[in-house]
Amino acid sequence: MTQKAIIPANYRMLISEESIQNRLKEIGAQIAAEFKGKHPILVGVLNGGVIVLADLIRYIDIDLEVDFIRISSYGDEKESSGHIKILKPLSADIKGRAVIIVEDIVDSGLSIQFLRNMLEAYGPSELKFATLLNKPSKNRVDLSIDYIGFDIDDKYVVGYGLDDKQFKRNLRSIYACE
Ligand code: IMP
Repeated sequence: MTQKAIIPANYRMLISEESIQNRLKEIGAQIAAEFKGKHPILVGVLNGGVIVLADLIRYIDIDLEVDFIRISSYGDEKESSGHIKILKPLSADIKGRAVIIVEDIVDSGLSIQFLRNMLEAYGPSELKFATLLNKPSKNRVDLSIDYIGFDIDDKYVVGYGLDDKQFKRNLRSIYACE
């Protein structure tokens, strides 16, 4: 099934559906090996992280829980304002639990720095970060991201959960807007 009807002419495919799935399979196997017996909670960061989380958990063959958190910083802009708010808090009690935060993309890194500082205060036994994409040249804070799908250049990318003014999240591959 082609998605041509909803791919504008200025989009260029950067990472194919197949490459995304292959990389998630590898990360899933790595998480399964590292978290065996720990019953981790995987937390998807809404909205973009929902598709990564949905696919990633099905490549992790150990018992796990799922939760979601929603924060805001960008609105419909393409650069972080640096002011981050919690729009939906966690539902799970993460005290003493192994937690893996699942992001679609790390750009400035301010979102994951905010999440790390906030969630550490709840006393998880481990707090790890996974992201499908990372833009190393844009990182403004010293980050330690535990699982990275792909490092990419400084381009605005869409598809696979990532939006273009709230649209295009349903594209199965990732595209750079030219
Ligand atoms: P950070 O706080 O600057 O690291 O931004 C992380 C968030 O910004 C991501 O979860 C996305 O929602 C959004 N974002 C950053 N870069 C892009 C992009 O290239 N396309 C779509 N969303 C992006």
